[in-house]
Amino acid sequence: MIKIGKHQLRNPVFFAPMSGISDAPTRDLAWQMGAGAVVSEMVASEAFVTGMDEMLMKAARPVKATTAQDDMDEQALYIVQLAGREARWMAESAKIVEDLGADVVDINMGCPARRVTSGYSGSALMRDLDHALTLIEATVSAVKVPVTLKMRLGWDEQSINAPELAKRAEGAGIQLLTVHGRTRNQFYEGRANWRAVKAVKTATSLPLIVNGDILNAADAHEALKQSGADGVMIGRGASGKPWVLGQISASLTGQTIPKAPGGKAFYEMVIGHYNAMIEFYGENMGNRQSRKHLAWYFEQLQGDEHLSHLRQTALTSRDVEAVRLAILEAFNSNYLMVA
Ligand SMILES: Cc1cc2nc3c(=O)[nH]c(=O)nc-3n(C[C@H](O)[C@H](O)[C@H](O)COP(=O)(O)O)c2cc1C
Repeated sequence: MIKIGKHQLRNPVFFAPMSGISDAPTRDLAWQMGAGAVVSEMVASEAFVTGMDEMLMKAARPVKATTAQDDMDEQALYIVQLAGREARWMAESAKIVEDLGADVVDINMGCPARRVTSGYSGSALMRDLDHALTLIEATVSAVKVPVTLKMRLGWDEQSINAPELAKRAEGAGIQLLTVHGRTRNQFYEGRANWRAVKAVKTATSLPLIVNGDILNAADAHEALKQSGADGVMIGRGASGKPWVLGQISASLTGQTIPKAPGGKAFYEMVIGHYNAMIEFYGENMGNRQSRKHLAWYFEQLQGDEHLSHLRQTALTSRDVEAVRLAILEAFNSNYLMVA
């Protein structure tokens, strides 16, 4: 079983940090659906320290995941991912999230987006490992909680340096690594190279999580086999079907694989997610933030023109009650499940 510091995970399946997606209500759902760990979307360290409310929301604790269960082993670890390029902002933001109660701080050295790398954050840090190390050292020494690191294989094919960064990060006190098996210059093109992640396993003795293009249990088994990693991280594969997290974890731990929720259970999951989004963000922002999730959920249905009309209402209406009704009619009826 995977340990991060003193914390033992209930299973080796992580729900990925995804900007605009892995917010507190969605992480909560991912936990309820069976993930072993859930990581916040990236929080920009400088904006966070200088008081941007949006960052505080991104860093929020997924509430039900930490209070619904009495058993400590069944509580989700509160993991916040920080991004940045300056040691002092990383250190200060790490202290703040620790004060908020975070159990683990994760550092982002994997984001390929130009707006992030042009500020020398995210995967751009893989171009300058000395500088990357100063951020890691500052973060690790700022907090008592474990610090983990997420990266790609390197900047491009000519500079695969994940093993070197991993080794140096281990020396600097990082306690778990996640590697997305692509280079920065691949963005999300091609296929993740799970085999290339193996060199990171060989280079360090840290728990290792393999990430990229894992959609189901068969992929997870194959990714673990090829990489030698200890766990898997699932991002896009869980979009609109968060139950795959539970299915993958059951398969990896030899449990009975739960069925995808059908009929009423599917409706209850969708409306529960929507309601949690509205409660967390308020009506306007909650509606906007829900739309991509609702669009993914609608992809699981098949139907006629009336279903298209319901979908349209759910994805465009600003009226929360109209959206709730559209969800009720679409998901609580006999539209064929694709899942
Ligand atoms: C929309 C989107 C936003 C993302 N935001 C983040 C982020 O904030 N932090 C991070 O480390 N990775 C981020 N990622 C990368 C994912 O965590 C993951 O590494 C990548 O999607 C590959 O995994 P997958 O194939 O399972 O989706 C993002 C990916 C997507 C698609």
